[in-house]
Amino acid sequence: MTLFDSYDLGGLMLPNRVVMAPMTRSRAPDTVPNGQMALYYEQRAGAGLIVTEGAQITPEGTGYLYTPGIYSRAQIAGWRQITQRVHDAGGRIFLQLWHTGRVSHRSLQIDCAAPVSSVVTIARTSVFAYDANGEAGPVPASEPRMLTTAEVWRVVEDFAQGAENALEAGFDGVEIHGANGYLVEQFTNGGLNRREDEFGGPIENRLRFVLETVSAVARRVGAHKVGLRLSPFGRLFDMPAFDDEAETWQALAIALSSAGLAYVHLSDQEKIGGKATPEDIREAFRGTYKGTLILAGGYNGDRARAALDAGLGDLIAFGRPYISNPDLVARLRNGWPLARFNAARFYGGGGDGYIDYPAYAA
Ligand SMILES: Cc1cc2nc3c(=O)[nH]c(=O)nc-3n(C[C@H](O)[C@H](O)[C@H](O)COP(=O)(O)O)c2cc1C
Repeated sequence: MTLFDSYDLGGLMLPNRVVMAPMTRSRAPDTVPNGQMALYYEQRAGAGLIVTEGAQITPEGTGYLYTPGIYSRAQIAGWRQITQRVHDAGGRIFLQLWHTGRVSHRSLQIDCAAPVSSVVTIARTSVFAYDANGEAGPVPASEPRMLTTAEVWRVVEDFAQGAENALEAGFDGVEIHGANGYLVEQFTNGGLNRREDEFGGPIENRLRFVLETVSAVARRVGAHKVGLRLSPFGRLFDMPAFDDEAETWQALAIALSSAGLAYVHLSDQEKIGGKATPEDIREAFRGTYKGTLILAGGYNGDRARAALDAGLGDLIAFGRPYISNPDLVARLRNGWPLARFNAARFYGGGGDGYIDYPAYAA
């Protein structure tokens, strides 16, 4: 089995096992996906599967300026041109459903309301929003308001509606963003989540939000069209260590095994300023979780092949290499060199460092 063998992803045939990892590029100034984004994704349609950048499911779920949404008619229409272009180019594409929770700022919220979270604990981090003078730039995250129990159930429904909107926009499926310190982890994390209702406290309660979200989304669009991204032991955006952390991830692996999902996507944070998932935790998850597993974080061709050979995962996701190598599959297959990415152009701005990376030419 190699990176270039096909894979049956819940009935969706992938021509290879290379996944384009979700990457926020902040090129939607009005939150509506546009033609430039369509070109960017079309250029990368050779991937076995594209997972888009995170798309906020509601205005409340916004954590950064210029990120696209999946809640308005205009956004759905904008995404539709993207899915069409990718499909016409022979590709497959899932949308990442995003709610950033407390990793947000009042200037991004309707009526400058406080962002919401599982608790009222502020995230010691900065986000890209408007400062006091109305200038765009990094600002400290705002103090969040705690969601009521009824509101948590409403957010679960917001995810399901986002998934329905994504399917209407022509996506082949959705990936729930349960990684990297955003709202889902704000519930899972026992060091942060001290709620006293059914969504806080023991493992079973802290996993309720993610599992209810998975169920609601699966009921709406079919479990085989739903992926879930996780970052076990992640520390990004001020996620603390906690006592029963290993048990929490093990319990989640068990619960997800019977969910019939398209996949679980493990995102290692080491290369993006966070912490590596401990090897024994990743292996325990692989041993317990019965479905398709995608691995992401720091892969090149050699490491990807080694991970597949060792049976650590079924598909390998590439993030930064896809920014500068739109024809990544062809380069890996032919042993062609990879172009370097320009990190200064990751977020925002125009087409440079976005749609101007060429395919390989000898
Ligand atoms: C510019 C940039 C934006 C990212 N945005 C997201 C995102 O929207 N959602 C997400 O789950 N991960 C996001 N990530 C993490 C990547 O999906 C990936 O896990 C990470 O880059 C590590 O993989 P790599 O070493 O192949 O780049 C982002 C990473 C980068 C570099």
